[in-house]
Amino acid sequence: MAGPIAVTGGAGFIGSHVVERMLASGHHVRVLDNLSTGHRANLPAGLDGTFETGDCTNAAWVREALRGCAAVIHLAATPNVQKSLDDPPEILHNNIQATACVLEAARRLGIRRVVLASSAGLYAADEEPPHHEEMTPCPGNPYAVGRYADEALAGVYSRVFGVDTTCLRFFNVYGPRQDPSSPYSGVISVFCRRMLAGQPPVIFGDGLQSRDFIYVGDIAAACSAAALSATACGGKAVNVGTGRSTDLRQLVSVLNDILGTTTQAQFVPARQGEVRHSRADTRRASALLGFTASTPFHVGLKSTVSWMQTAV
Ligand SMILES: NC(=O)c1ccc[n+]([C@@H]2O[C@H](COP(=O)([O-])OP(=O)(O)OC[C@H]3O[C@@H](n4cnc5c(N)ncnc54)[C@H](O)[C@@H]3O)[C@@H](O)[C@H]2O)c1
Repeated sequence: MAGPIAVTGGAGFIGSHVVERMLASGHHVRVLDNLSTGHRANLPAGLDGTFETGDCTNAAWVREALRGCAAVIHLAATPNVQKSLDDPPEILHNNIQATACVLEAARRLGIRRVVLASSAGLYAADEEPPHHEEMTPCPGNPYAVGRYADEALAGVYSRVFGVDTTCLRFFNVYGPRQDPSSPYSGVISVFCRRMLAGQPPVIFGDGLQSRDFIYVGDIAAACSAAALSATACGGKAVNVGTGRSTDLRQLVSVLNDILGTTTQAQFVPARQGEVRHSRADTRRASALLGFTASTPFHVGLKSTVSWMQTAV
């Protein structure tokens, strides 16, 4: 592919795995990040590519930073649901404005392909799984509304401006480098951290709520497949999940197996509006991108626990 692959948000949890994967498959990368939640240290020391520090909400800066790139994997966002409930304008501005700037730069620079991070949070909380892309979105919080707007904008850039876009709806991502220090981080990193410290994981409700947990290495593979695909996706949304779900009681049990512990969860009252069950219909990802998640749950969890034992 002529020109580097740009990864916005490349210093973040998911972005750093995407960068690693692109480098391992021989591509040059260009990372764009404002280091608001990401860290330079997440990236390989001798990064074979360039690192641009700046804000993707700045249209002129994004246009310069993306010049010469062959494709963009756009992950820069504040993926914090609670923050979006506390301060909707700030999160909506950051996430939608960044997407608008990236898409517009791609149009002006003639960049053929933009892959965007979207979210399973678009599906209605009471929708029965498996969740498939043709279900009518019903975002349950301002963060998810922003992702919905991003998808709509990506559709316009594809249909009206000829920039081929793909909106990847990530389900619950976990793995090394996910920040466990925030209580709003992914449930797996929060549970791992507490159980490693000998503390009980806190479960809201009965613990039978289930999620489609997908390992971050599989997410990187899906991003790579979408960026390099010979087939145009035409602005379509594509689920990126495993097609299987695990409830929180099972999660605690698998973590106990890996850690060799017998920690019991602490149960507290359920949170209002929480999604009960989430699981991806994965047929479109397989048909359009040739992507299927391949990391078994216990393997991904083991690697997450190992990372946490050394890094946190
Ligand atoms: N983690 C998940 O389970 C999950 C699920 C669905 C979707 N997503 C999406 O995946 C993407 C990556 O999420 P993550 O979990 O790696 O989060 P993260 O916070 O680790 O990464 C986001 C990165 O974007 C950077 N960033 C934020 N705003 C920016 C801006 N205006 N300009 C430049 N850089 C900016 C941050 O510094 C960080 O490096 C996000 O778009 C998120 O919405 C994540």
